[in-house]
Parts: sequence; C-alpha cells; structure tokens
Amino acid sequence: DFTPKREDKFSFGLWTVGWLGRDPFGEATRSPLDPVEAVHRLSDLGAHGITFHDDDLVPFGSDATERSAIVSRFRGALDETGLAVPMVTTNLFSHPVFKDGGFTANDRDVRRFALRKVLRNVELAAELGARTFVAWGGREGAESGAAKDVRAALDRYREAVDTVCAFIKERGYDLKLALEPKPNEPRGDILLPTVGHALAFINELEHGDIVGVNPEVGHEQMAGLNFTHGIAQALWAGKLFHIDLNGQNGIKYDQDLRFGAGDVRTAFFLVDLLENGGYEGPRHFDFKPPRTEDYDGVWASAAGCMRNYLILKERAASFRADPRVEEALEAARVAELSTPTLNAGESVSDLLSEDLDVDAVAARGMHFERLDQLAMDHLLGVN
Ligand code: GCO
Ligand code: MN
Ligand code: MN
Ligand code: MN
Repeated sequence: DFTPKREDKFSFGLWTVGWLGRDPFGEATRSPLDPVEAVHRLSDLGAHGITFHDDDLVPFGSDATERSAIVSRFRGALDETGLAVPMVTTNLFSHPVFKDGGFTANDRDVRRFALRKVLRNVELAAELGARTFVAWGGREGAESGAAKDVRAALDRYREAVDTVCAFIKERGYDLKLALEPKPNEPRGDILLPTVGHALAFINELEHGDIVGVNPEVGHEQMAGLNFTHGIAQALWAGKLFHIDLNGQNGIKYDQDLRFGAGDVRTAFFLVDLLENGGYEGPRHFDFKPPRTEDYDGVWASAAGCMRNYLILKERAASFRADPRVEEALEAARVAELSTPTLNAGESVSDLLSEDLDVDAVAARGMHFERLDQLAMDHLLGVN
C-alpha cells in the first residue's frame, strides 16, 4: 500500500504545485492557485508540510496590513488541516532589482535590501515554526568574466550568511540555514554550483555550525554528478539539513520533473541511502508539474512524487532483506571497507615492512555486477 501518511514527512513547495507554467518561451497555462487551497489539497493527499518563498505567500511589495491578513488566513488553513511549515525560503531572484544577485550583487544598495528581505523572512519562518531556512542563490553569479570579482563575491556571500546566522542566534530561534547549490540557470554560472562547493564554503563561515546544505536531485545531475554520492558526502559531513527531491534527464536545462521521473536508478539508491543513512528531515519535493497539465494533472503529479518515493522505499527494503543480496554484498567485500586500513596503534613501519602478492590480489574479481543486477531486479520488481 503506497498511500502517503503524515509520518512519511512529505512536504511540497507552494511554488511547485502553484507553478503556472510560465517558461522562457511561453505564457502561463494555468490560473493562480490560492495558497489556502494548496494547503487543503496537499493535506488531503497525505503530505505533512508545505514550504514557500516569502513572495509565494505575500506578494512582493505588500504593506504590513496586507501581509498580516494573508499570513493569518494561511495560518488558519494550517491549523484546520494540521499541515506543518517545516521550511521557509526567500525569493532573491524574481524582482528586476535582483538581476545581478542579492547577497553578491555588485550594487551595495541591492545587497542591503536583500539582507533586509531575508531577515524579515527569518522572523516569519520562526513565527510559523519552521526549522530550516533555505537559501538558493539563483541570481548569485555571472554571465561574463570581468563583471564579477568572484573572491569579493564570496566575501559578501559569507558576510550575508554569517549576518543571518548571528541574527538567528541572537533571537534564539530554533532554525538552521541550508544552502542550495545549482550550477547554472538563471545565471550563466552560479556561485556555489555543487554540494562540494557549498560544503567547502560552510567551512569558511563563522557560524557554520548552523549552516548545512539543501541539495536538489536535478541540480547535481545538471552538472553531470552522482547525486547519491553528493548526499552521502553531505551526510558524512553532518550537513544534510534538508533535501529537494525531483527528477532530471541528464545534463540539460533544469527539468524539475516529479520525483522518480528521470534517472530512476539514482532515485532507487538515493531512497535506499536516505532511509538507511540516518536522514530524519522532511522528504521535500521541489518539482514543476509540466505546463501540459491542468490542475487534475498537477495533483496527479504531486501524488506521483510521494507514490514513487514509497515504491522505491519498499523496493529498497526488499533489496536489503534478500539473502542473495547479503551474499553478494559479502562477495563484493562491501563491509570490508569499514575496517580501518591500519590496525589500532599500528605504526607505518609495520606497513612498510609488509609485502603483497600483487598478481594474486589483482586477479581477484570484485563480483560487483551480480550485486548490481540484484539491485536492478528488485528495482524492477522481478526479484
Ligand atoms: C530551482 C530551485 C528553486 C529553489 C527554490 C528555493 O529549481 O531552480 O530549486 O526552485 O529550490 O527557489 O529557493
Ligand atoms: Mn530546489
Ligand atoms: Mn531545480
Ligand atoms: Mn525548483
């Protein structure tokens, strides 16, 4: 039974089911979705949470009165349904003022405005009980070489993130920041393009203790990278604070397909890792229902994200429970990698005096293909 339940912790961006289908080549194909309706629909589908950019909920330029009316109406729907707001994020990319970025715009007035917009939104996030604050710097970057001093931009990026974190700590909010990498689109080249770049950046922060990553499946794949490996490294670093699940077919524009579409093998190994690797955060979908769809198609697409996750979770469990897989893992020496290379207390002189029959060892097969085919059988349901 692949019916989503609250405890599955599925969440959706308001901008995902609310995407109107506007793309660089065509107008909107759907009419606007009332955020209150989104809350009810997602709740009915079995989701646990909804997330949003400040501007998705409160239109850019609204005054304080409008803002509080919108927020209290939205809160009413949350209370009625029991849907949570696990994450909030800020739009620093749509308005023309952000054409050269927010935190790293050359224009200092823009940077001060961007920081103010984020700080106000941090207050809203805390007010709604969010635990993660995502920062996706889609406009932080460049199309040309001389226009952006990348080292200065990274200084300003660090300054902004540290300022936001200092504010979170000063206010005593139970909130962590998660940076979302993306290699390009909308900028020609975006700063912090991959999980690895973001992890290295976090190490340079003053308040890096409350900063982690929010990797998106398609974004790493746009860079030709193995998403599951990126997630494993983020987990290894203790920095997987949140995740954006979706689908992508190879190195091309950001497709934001529903989760499970695109590279299904990666999706299988990803779910296996998330379920067994200690990740306890929301299973958040950041996808775009294709512009071919009406609202029936939008909800079918959202339901499909959760259904595919649950199917893959069941398939991964069946893979892990198969005694043939246990044998194949053994034959492939997978557990042996967890044994340290040196014995406890062993000195390198012991190592230097050792010898190995390299020809004999080189002749050993690793038996990876059998193991991988078993994974494929389970994924395809023919085990
Ligand atoms: C994308 C990005 C965005 C961000 C979102 C959060 O697909 O280009 O994923 O959707 O996740 O805007 O700020
Ligand atoms: Mn995303
Ligand atoms: Mn994307
Ligand atoms: Mn997206």
